[in-house]
Amino acid sequence: MDRRPIGVFDSGFGGLTAVRELARIMPEEDLVYFGDTGRVPYGGRSRDILVKYARQDVAFLRTFNPKAIVIACGTVSTTALDVLQAENDIPIFGVVEPAARASAHVTRNARVGLIGTKASIRSGAYERALDTLRPGVEVTAKACPLLVSLVENGRFRPGDIVAETVVAEYLAPVKAAGVDTLILGCTHYPLLREIIGAYMGPGVALVDVGEQCARWVKRQLELDGLRNQRPGAGRRRYYVSDSTEDFSSLASIFLGEDVRGEVEQIDITAY
Ligand code: DGL
Repeated sequence: MDRRPIGVFDSGFGGLTAVRELARIMPEEDLVYFGDTGRVPYGGRSRDILVKYARQDVAFLRTFNPKAIVIACGTVSTTALDVLQAENDIPIFGVVEPAARASAHVTRNARVGLIGTKASIRSGAYERALDTLRPGVEVTAKACPLLVSLVENGRFRPGDIVAETVVAEYLAPVKAAGVDTLILGCTHYPLLREIIGAYMGPGVALVDVGEQCARWVKRQLELDGLRNQRPGAGRRRYYVSDSTEDFSSLASIFLGEDVRGEVEQIDITAY
């Protein structure tokens, strides 16, 4: 039994898709979320800058004495997980391994598609994980740099001609490769699930990295005896590095429910 909160971070709002699943499967846990909205997007940045930002994000969350930290960001998970794990004495969870495990399990034809930010695709992290879990799996990867901006600007609904055109262009080579499983390797992408699903067709399973990560975190906390078994709803706190003005309305779209709990702006450069 451990009543300390779970820290979660992302470059912006995308990580809230992981919070949504964490809150659904572990409603009694206290969650502290940090979205680096002042510096989003992370996906086009160099490794050095990403490691610097990730260290600051973790340092901020550690001020809440969390029992674990979830990197609800594909970009940081693929680029800085090893550094963060080596520097911290609490469990740090990323999205790559749980998503790779789910994909290795789900694919029938051993052809897996992967979409993510430039940094995520450049890292080769999913290919390495899949190769260990299921040697011989063929991965067709495509960086999709415009998708995070579309989502952060609310352009993700079916019928949005810009979103549909951009998705179709990015996914054409992935579809042509005959994949039966597609890893949505960025926590912003679940909002585009309908558009992506419609383009790929019903025969392609979509793997949501935030959702898989949340389930993995629950299992690991249980194994380590770190779950909070206290009945009742956990406390939710949200922090951002830009203005909180539009946070609640946008965040509720990612969370699938109204934001309840505190929302505050912090200066992340101070960490
Ligand atoms: N949600 C982040 C990810 O999973 C978005 C990356 C970005 O900020 O570009 O990669």
